Amino acid sequence: MPRLWPTARILVALPCDAAPLRSPGARTTLAALGESTVAEVPSGSRASRRAILIAGEAVLLVAAVTAAVLATDANDWRPFDLLASLFVLAVAGQFLAVQAGSVQIGPAFISTALAMVLLGPAPAAIIAVAAVLAWSVKSPPPSLELGFNNIVALTTYPVAGALLFQALGDPVETGASAGTVGATVFAVYLITNLLNFLLIVGYVCLRNGRSLPSAFVRLYLPVVPWEVATGALTAGTVLAYQEVGLVAVGLLAVMLVTSRYLLQAVVDAQRQRDELRAQMEELEALHHGVVRVMVETLGMRDRMTARHSAAVARFARATAAAAGLPAREQELVHTAGLLHDVGKFTFPDHTLTSRHLTPEDWELIRSHPQRGADIVGAVHGYGPVADIILCHHERMDGAGYPRSLAGDDIPLLARILSVCDTFDVMTSRDSYRTPIAVEDAIAELRRVSGTQLDGRLVEAFVGVITEAGVDFSHGDDRDLERELRVRRPQMPAREAAA
Ligand SMILES: [Fe+2]
Repeated sequence: MPRLWPTARILVALPCDAAPLRSPGARTTLAALGESTVAEVPSGSRASRRAILIAGEAVLLVAAVTAAVLATDANDWRPFDLLASLFVLAVAGQFLAVQAGSVQIGPAFISTALAMVLLGPAPAAIIAVAAVLAWSVKSPPPSLELGFNNIVALTTYPVAGALLFQALGDPVETGASAGTVGATVFAVYLITNLLNFLLIVGYVCLRNGRSLPSAFVRLYLPVVPWEVATGALTAGTVLAYQEVGLVAVGLLAVMLVTSRYLLQAVVDAQRQRDELRAQMEELEALHHGVVRVMVETLGMRDRMTARHSAAVARFARATAAAAGLPAREQELVHTAGLLHDVGKFTFPDHTLTSRHLTPEDWELIRSHPQRGADIVGAVHGYGPVADIILCHHERMDGAGYPRSLAGDDIPLLARILSVCDTFDVMTSRDSYRTPIAVEDAIAELRRVSGTQLDGRLVEAFVGVITEAGVDFSHGDDRDLERELRVRRPQMPAREAAA
């Protein structure tokens, strides 16, 4: 994972303070912008561009400081207890911030916004800069250049926000209605929030020749709802301050601190969920690989059996779907179809290829459901697949093998597999018999309905073959490959995780 850019993370994350909010942090910024490091050696044009940018930032900083000095009077530093409270909340809040993936959530931005509205330009800028300097003690910026950018941004946006609030008539001072105060604070909050983003991410984009609109869409738009919520919280705090004074800031601090622990629990739960999801995906990939290796190994030994298995898998999934079974059951029977003859691994070659088998050979062949179930059942999570494989040669009249189950005692998916297996053995070339026409095979399926096969499933299968047009090209290895590739192994992974 790319190294975080802690300083920028603070700055860009500042807009998302005080609530389970998301904001484009440095990891998002740098990763999304394709930046995994900031330590590259500048080329000629890039170096000159950076020099221009740094000079421009210096001008901006001077302008912001000048504006702050000129626009701040003695009253803007009062009441002192409010100034001290917001300062402490912003600085201490940095160390209570929660890292939620690419999001840094802490109370610094909301403290700065309150200072913009309730104090003045210079106090707001000092609070913002103090917060990031406090954080830099814990996590130093990766370069002086980017650290400087942070200082410029955190000086500029609070001054701009405070001046904007004054330009809008400073409704807090003039005793405007609660609606006017709230709406104005809310608007100023969102504007400065966006300005903060532009000052940080815009600089990185200009510096590295990246697209700012693209970064805006990817990094800022997704967090707008959170920023709106934080803006509303800020407006509410200002209104409460007008009524109860510093108690409102105290209540805000209590809420932020307590919500921090709640938020941490949520973040931890999300992290655990993500880790579990990653493990599940790895497990699914592993299971997919297991099935693929089994089928391909069988295919190296006996290509026709491998193709037959793939055909049965395809027919079985389609039949399960036609019978109205859920997707998980469809996947389960598909996997069982791919593996249903894997027990033949253990047989001598002639039992797979010869047309002249002895009674001993047939006895051996009749053991393949049990052997296959033993092999597949040994794989963690494949118990349900093994159960189907074990029963795929049972008959409705109880004359099948190995356990002579009858009727509904035979698992439904095994009955589906049996229909598909019987059809494919009749219609494809294998070592046991000469293929017959599809129409004749369907007639044979119907003839043995109720005795060998489940008649309801036979009709579902016939619909799949004649109406849905499901087919399998036994002479085409690409069809086998396609069947292995399309397999989705969620079922075994879920079983394993259960
Ligand atoms: Fe079989």
